[in-house]
Amino acid sequence: MNYFVSASVLSADMLNLESEIRKMENSGIDMLHFDVMDGVFVNNITYGLAILEAVDKETDMLLDVHLMIIDPLKYVERFAQCGADIITFHLESESDTMETIRAIKKCGVKASLSIKPGTPAEEIFPYLPYLDMVLVMTVEPGFGGQSFIPETLGKVKAIRDKINELGLDADVEVDGGINAETAPLVIDAGANVLVSGSYLFKAPDMAEAAKNIKKGI
Ligand code: DX5
Ligand code: ZN
Repeated sequence: MNYFVSASVLSADMLNLESEIRKMENSGIDMLHFDVMDGVFVNNITYGLAILEAVDKETDMLLDVHLMIIDPLKYVERFAQCGADIITFHLESESDTMETIRAIKKCGVKASLSIKPGTPAEEIFPYLPYLDMVLVMTVEPGFGGQSFIPETLGKVKAIRDKINELGLDADVEVDGGINAETAPLVIDAGANVLVSGSYLFKAPDMAEAAKNIKKGI
């Protein structure tokens, strides 16, 4: 299995995003995680299309876009046009799930579905054959810097086991509270794409921190 570290720019210095991108590129980070929040699906508002387009012009890193918005179907095409390589949306959003997966794939982008900590793993199962990735939220979506919720580990394992049982090769991503201590736990449970924001950006040496995340592999 291939393992990836996806750095969440939610914790980056937004006024110096260009140098933050260079730092990520030079620290062995595999993907740039881009959290889009609309103030309705979650109680926070971040950034959107224009910033993604600017980021895409600045880097060749894979752009891992996490939509925490109420109607993702309405926007997937434009996020794809602005450079998204992977688009994750939430099962708890108001868009039709299958229709949104199809719309993402039609744009030539990888389709990924996410569940919040309170949503059972089984709700993802019917969609697994159509997905490139599943994102299991390991904190309540909305803010960086929260503590990892250990009860989500069972869901990571259940989803990885189901993917294996069905003979699929979808990635399993985790997001929220990932650091040197929690990374081995999620890897052990079956995650292979690890999002990390505050741990990476607050570290004195991002390359060292990225290495620590991958230590458990
Ligand atoms: C939270 C976001 C995360 C967040 C992770 O809703 O989806 O991507 O930036 O940040 P940390 O790693 O600080 O928990
Ligand atoms: Zn995220």
